[in-house]
Amino acid sequence: MTEKLGTLPVARSIAALRRCVTAWRRAGEVVALVPTMGALHAGHLALIAHAAQRADRVVASIFVNPTQFGPNEDFNRYPRDEAGDAAKLAGARCDLLYAPDAAEIYAPDFSTTVSVGAVAEPLDGEFRPGHFAGVATVVTKLLLQAHPDIACFGEKDWQQLQVIRRLARDLDIEVAIEGVPIVREEDGLALSSRNVYLTPEERRIAPVLHRTLADVAARVAAGADPDAAAKAGGEAVLKAGFTKLDYLAVRDAESLQPWVARVRPGRVLVATWLGRTRLIDNEPVAPRNS
Ligand code: PAF
Repeated sequence: MTEKLGTLPVARSIAALRRCVTAWRRAGEVVALVPTMGALHAGHLALIAHAAQRADRVVASIFVNPTQFGPNEDFNRYPRDEAGDAAKLAGARCDLLYAPDAAEIYAPDFSTTVSVGAVAEPLDGEFRPGHFAGVATVVTKLLLQAHPDIACFGEKDWQQLQVIRRLARDLDIEVAIEGVPIVREEDGLALSSRNVYLTPEERRIAPVLHRTLADVAARVAAGADPDAAAKAGGEAVLKAGFTKLDYLAVRDAESLQPWVARVRPGRVLVATWLGRTRLIDNEPVAPRNS
């Protein structure tokens, strides 16, 4: 059974989700899935808009997935506002909200993990042990539950997007994974559900992150050594008032391995802290021959 939150139909169970999606697919409609953890902002609404352009039907899922948070991370304080999110989705072109509870997703004796390998190992894989296994497992489940033709993910979580592309390919999941560009505030700060944690002083410092990434990307594109440019970028971020740097690195955009040959697209990626808030961002670097 689907219920309604305001005007938006909501499926709480896998069975209810499948009933809707199966009917749409039988009618020849193309279905897109936009997986989220809620606390929706304009970046999520850009995912919905992209999905609506590419598909006849759009399903958004909201599930704050416990298995992708480390023991000392912000699972308990992660912002949750289902009614507000449903109102935003109803005003966008979303046909169905899938909002299961944890028991629907994880049986008490759940014991299977999707482990993606090399692309999930560096960067966030190093600083958030277990994070990508949690993401890969829940995304695999969501794709198998909804069986969409298309699934849309934000490029802000660049490494996550590469992990998801790899798992869909390696496990032969019949879905087109589409990345959607980052939505930024006017001052360049990438939109994130975690931005609500920032104090006014931290919010004032935060835009330095994107300016620094753009500067590193420009220097590397102009021929600077990627490691030296990344090191200088990391120093600039700390000097601006960021309290801790997990990494600032230039990598192969797809494999996330060191960007040695520079003949394929590169990506500058950063994860850094402002007080208790961890921010991530990334910026493209064109290959040498382009
Ligand atoms: O990017 C997110 O919001 C989450 O990692 C995702 C993809 C919904 C999986 O829980």
